[in-house]
Amino acid sequence: MSLPSKMKALVTVEDHQATVQEVDVPTLDADEILVRTLAVTINPTDWKHVAFISGPGNRVGCDFVGVVEQLGSSVRNSSLQKGDRVAGFVHGGKEPERGSFAEYLKTDSKIVAKIPDNVDDLTAAALGIGGETAVQALFHRLNLPVPDFSNGAVPVKDDAQEVLIWSGSTTVGQWAIQLAHLAGYKVITTASPKNHDLLKSLGADDLFDYRDESTPEKISSKYPKLSKALDCISENGTQQLCVKSLGQGGGEVVVLLKPDKEAIELRKGEVKIIHTLAYTALGRPFNYGKAVYDQATVEADSKKMQEWLNGDKGHFYTLFKQGLLKGNRTKEMQGGLEGINEGMKYLQEGKASAEKLTYRISS
Ligand SMILES: NC(=O)c1ccc[n+]([C@@H]2O[C@H](COP(=O)([O-])OP(=O)(O)OC[C@H]3O[C@@H](n4cnc5c(N)ncnc54)[C@H](OP(=O)(O)O)[C@@H]3O)[C@@H](O)[C@H]2O)c1
Repeated sequence: MSLPSKMKALVTVEDHQATVQEVDVPTLDADEILVRTLAVTINPTDWKHVAFISGPGNRVGCDFVGVVEQLGSSVRNSSLQKGDRVAGFVHGGKEPERGSFAEYLKTDSKIVAKIPDNVDDLTAAALGIGGETAVQALFHRLNLPVPDFSNGAVPVKDDAQEVLIWSGSTTVGQWAIQLAHLAGYKVITTASPKNHDLLKSLGADDLFDYRDESTPEKISSKYPKLSKALDCISENGTQQLCVKSLGQGGGEVVVLLKPDKEAIELRKGEVKIIHTLAYTALGRPFNYGKAVYDQATVEADSKKMQEWLNGDKGHFYTLFKQGLLKGNRTKEMQGGLEGINEGMKYLQEGKASAEKLTYRISS
């Protein structure tokens, strides 16, 4: 079957809105692949791009799973073939030709994971931003060593290194709990009590309610050696709660939004706050507000992420194939591309609780 030249995509328009439009199917650079989108999920960054960041004329959407339909002229990922099912994310909302809320999308061939047959489309669709941000935070910013997963998960020993995942029921939190657990770390997390059983099933060892004001004090006294934390919310005071939760020796807190000045001051010299941004893993330089992510920075981050992606050579494929990764708890939404604005509104209104909104785009 020959490829169409036109397709449907969600595109930003005036007044910070987005509509489904007919646009050109993307053209490929030498090391890119064209993917027919099977399913997508929504992340907060999607509605934030539409509402605050993007000008008109940009394709929206980051996460995807789809089928490789075309390979660029010199694709370096030799393991990929036409017909493979792959997942990952693109920097949606930034450029006219890049966005996953579309019937076809283009991406670099090295920054997708091949998805084995035992994983369904909706689970795979949520891998991109959530899974890769969790990897970046735990293994690239907190520098937790990555074990060899080829023989399965690493058992969590009594004296295993502890890691705090604040707000474990978020998209990123659910991935981080699973990955830290599979890598043999002891996972301490916070969430609404109604989500505790879910997070235990993903591998959390000890759970607290983030609404209980004494939670940071309870964590730091129970875990005096705790030195690594990931704040999956990173706003409205959560960075300070993470800083307070670390043990007496201090340590490092990775944050997903701008570092908070008060959190930095709270235990200055003892606790370091480190910001991470998933887009650097894509290997394409970009600006984000006043911050500039140059070629050297993004290339280094992308290379590290390729250990997890790169077709069927990375850790995500290995862990999926062994049935060890469950991904996010998904909620299937209706309406395909036309339904995505409703989903973005639901997320923006803060209605999502441990649920990843997913949409089927094609079969
Ligand atoms: N830097 C990056 O690269 C990056 C990557 C991904 C996400 N982010 C950012 O990280 C944030 C979360 O994104 P996400 O997609 O992971 O989240 P999400 O899945 O939309 O988060 C929903 C969860 O947030 C929890 N929550 C809400 N308010 C909270 C609070 N005050 N304290 C603790 N937990 C709270 C709720 O927990 P309960 O239901 O248990 O109450 C709910 O399950 C967004 O701001 C997003 O833009 C940044």
